[in-house]
Amino acid sequence: MYTHFPSSNKLLISALLLSPLSLAVPCSSCNATPSIVSNSTSLPYLNPQLCIQDRLDDLLSRMTLEEKAGQLFIKQIPAGLNGTIDNTTTVLDGNRNLTTAPLITERLLSHFNVNNARSAKQMAEWHNAVQQLALGTRLKIPITITSDPRHAFADTVGSSIASGQFSKFPESLGIAALRDPVLAELYATIVREEYLAVGIRNALQPQIDVVTEPRMARSGQTFGEDANLTASMVVALIKGFQGPEFGLHSVTTVTKHFPGAGPARNGNDSHFATGKDNIYFGDFLDCHLVPFKAAIAAGGRQIMPSYARPIGTRYPEVAFGFNKPVITGLLREELGFDGIVVSDWGLITDAAIMGVVEPARAWGVENTTELERAKMVLDAGVDQFGGEICTELLVQLVNDGQIPESCLDVSVRKLLREKFLLGLVDNRFVDPEAADKVVGNAYFARIGNETQRRAYTLLTNQTDILPLRPNDGVKFYAQDFNSSFLEARNLTVVASPSEADFCFLRLSTPWEARGSPFRQRYHEGRLDFNATEKAAHSALFNTCPTIVDILLDRPAVIPEIVEEAAALFGHYGASVDAFLDVVFNKDGWKPEGKLPFDLPRSMEAVEGQVADVPFDTDDPVFEFGHGLGYDRSALCG
Ligand SMILES: *[C@@H]1O[C@H](CO)[C@@H](O)[C@H](O)[C@H]1NC(C)=O
Ligand SMILES: *[C@@H]1O[C@H](CO)[C@@H](O)[C@H](O)[C@H]1NC(C)=O
Ligand SMILES: *[C@@H]1O[C@H](CO)[C@@H](O)[C@H](O)[C@H]1NC(C)=O
Ligand SMILES: *[C@@H]1O[C@H](CO)[C@@H](O)[C@H](O)[C@H]1NC(C)=O
Ligand SMILES: *[C@@H]1O[C@H](CO)[C@@H](O)[C@H](O)[C@H]1NC(C)=O
Ligand SMILES: *[C@@H]1O[C@H](CO)[C@@H](O)[C@H](O)[C@H]1NC(C)=O
Ligand SMILES: *[C@@H]1O[C@H](CO)[C@@H](O)[C@H](O)[C@H]1NC(C)=O
Ligand SMILES: *[C@@H]1O[C@H](CO)[C@@H](O)[C@H](O)[C@H]1NC(C)=O
Ligand SMILES: *[C@@H]1O[C@H](CO)[C@@H](O)[C@H](O)[C@H]1NC(C)=O
Ligand SMILES: *[C@@H]1O[C@H](CO)[C@@H](O)[C@H](O)[C@H]1NC(C)=O
Ligand SMILES: *[C@@H]1O[C@H](CO)[C@@H](O)[C@H](O)[C@H]1NC(C)=O
Ligand SMILES: *[C@@H]1O[C@H](CO)[C@@H](O)[C@H](O)[C@H]1NC(C)=O
Repeated sequence: MYTHFPSSNKLLISALLLSPLSLAVPCSSCNATPSIVSNSTSLPYLNPQLCIQDRLDDLLSRMTLEEKAGQLFIKQIPAGLNGTIDNTTTVLDGNRNLTTAPLITERLLSHFNVNNARSAKQMAEWHNAVQQLALGTRLKIPITITSDPRHAFADTVGSSIASGQFSKFPESLGIAALRDPVLAELYATIVREEYLAVGIRNALQPQIDVVTEPRMARSGQTFGEDANLTASMVVALIKGFQGPEFGLHSVTTVTKHFPGAGPARNGNDSHFATGKDNIYFGDFLDCHLVPFKAAIAAGGRQIMPSYARPIGTRYPEVAFGFNKPVITGLLREELGFDGIVVSDWGLITDAAIMGVVEPARAWGVENTTELERAKMVLDAGVDQFGGEICTELLVQLVNDGQIPESCLDVSVRKLLREKFLLGLVDNRFVDPEAADKVVGNAYFARIGNETQRRAYTLLTNQTDILPLRPNDGVKFYAQDFNSSFLEARNLTVVASPSEADFCFLRLSTPWEARGSPFRQRYHEGRLDFNATEKAAHSALFNTCPTIVDILLDRPAVIPEIVEEAAALFGHYGASVDAFLDVVFNKDGWKPEGKLPFDLPRSMEAVEGQVADVPFDTDDPVFEFGHGLGYDRSALCG
């Protein structure tokens, strides 16, 4: 079925060979006494000829409490200009502001997520500069760089970054729409190759929340409403991110948000107090665990708990990151996960985001002190604190005898082991020139572009007008996108719908902008167009046969468009050219996507759904799996 993709691909292999790699000795091949002792000035943990277990023991034995505490934090930092360290963006630390350098050299952090976009070469140079700084610390522990997804269109502070030079796919919903684990693995392989090239070795994905509440604000980066489809996708992604075996060529995955952030009350986002509750009134928690079980079985190495707290289960009503019965009881003991648990960002301290102070997401334990929160998170079974730098709290907890140092050691060992396995300790630098060649190369970019087209989901073609085959003189009108995309195809463009033979309308699923600037980045609230918008759409539809294209980052409530438009496409992140190629069947492009969720009939139907139950919307306009094709006869015409 992969007619567009070459079956074997030399570029993938050559990309891997661009950066020289040394071998880390796995523990299974470790002799009791290593025969080679290289050099008296080289410490055992820095000796690549020793096995990882021994190197870890050695390193841990040398670490101060402060150095251990530093490992237990991961913080967001920007890549500076022109490949340099950013010396202007600061993080508030008590009564001083810290830039990247002191976070590494004084705070002793060695895990960061890069939260902005630069060219591939500059990102690689910046990465090397960061690693160089770490070489100047006492133990020279390499930095692990992490990223939110950055291979699609969405640009949401705190959860995704627009692709820039990286190859550009649809959001993960579009991968789900193609129902193809082989493609999903290829997608993740390409992301891995591009990440390796710039030094990103950890991915804050796959996001496998099952979208059982259609208003859920972060649906775009999920795989939709079906737990089984999501499970098959997460397995394929983990395979692609890790490669044939976890090691020097791998990117670690952070599967999130345990135990599933789908059942959000009212769909409100759990970054904010108005979205603190996950509700399980349908008793469907198990359904949300299906993809997590698959991720664990597939060897997924890290898991992030959801910000939310459970209502209507046997678990305490406190945020999942603080919730010992969920993290230790359910995740570790029942499901057998022994990897790294990294908390979502900002559970401990209040912090300014986009100029507004947002409260710590200590949902259900709001009245605790920062010290109490840190202890609860550790006690719950979390290994690493996201988005925080309060290492002093851990030092105090150990010094006060509230937490044994051996408890930190368990997490430090897991986190450092990851660095050894990824080969960072022995070979931390990347080649910026190679990065420029690998990232967004013609092959990767083509697969991204093709996937945008293939994921198109044809919902209606009322008048059977698709694909369009314009004869000379046919006139077009473009609404809500630049008509230069039509002119570039030598199509005749007119200035009003009444002069046109066909109209195009490009829409996004409606949402409500609420609260702080940061909150407005999350698409919450109603999924339908308001009366004014509906009237404007109808006026267009009544004037001209209109082909509508809507971004389904959530399940839109659009029965009137289904009724009135000449044809309706859904997409999950696609360029205007991708849309037009599908409309005109250019180079044979046709819609292959199937809906990854039901499309509800009305907001009343949405409000009537039980938040944790899939496929319970009353009389959906289209069901999960709907998606028309182009007739063979139409394609021969
Ligand atoms: C020992 O290590 C030092 C510092 O890393 C290096 O300069 C030296 O060449 C090494 N000597 C041998 C014999 O490998
Ligand atoms: C980055 O490079 C550009 C052009 O090479 C230069 O104009 C600019 O001043 C540089 N910025 C910094 C911060 O070095
Ligand atoms: C930024 O800080 C780093 C680390 O302290 C330093 O090496 C670099 O020179 C600084 N860059 C500028 C432009 O000041
Ligand atoms: C820290 O930075 C913020 C904003 O960038 C500024 O308002 C504040 O005054 C700074 N605080 C200190 C102690 O420098
Ligand atoms: C998911 O798979 C399980 C096991 O094969 C099956 O029992 C269940 O009905 C499937 N669920 C859906 C929604 O297809
Ligand atoms: C969701 O957010 C809206 C808008 O802020 C608010 O009116 C509503 O009460 C919130 N829902 C809950 C459960 O807090
Ligand atoms: C926190 O304290 C305030 C008043 O001090 C109280 O109204 C609120 O219910 C408390 N919240 C929790 C979760 O205990
Ligand atoms: C991918 O699409 C972008 C935007 O439409 C275009 O600029 C680029 O040339 C395409 N790349 C390949 C390799 O097809
Ligand atoms: C439309 O695209 C043309 C050509 O790329 C550009 O010059 C023009 O500014 C664009 N118009 C708008 C409104 O973005
Ligand atoms: C548009 O027409 C011009 C002039 O006839 C021609 O050179 C160009 O190749 C055409 N472009 C396309 C996309 O057909
Ligand atoms: C309808 O939505 C538009 C945004 O598309 C907004 O400008 C307008 O105020 C809304 N109208 C009503 C009546 O809510
Ligand atoms: C349009 O959709 C109908 C089903 O609604 C289908 O039978 C028909 O073949 C489609 N037309 C084309 C050109 O794909």
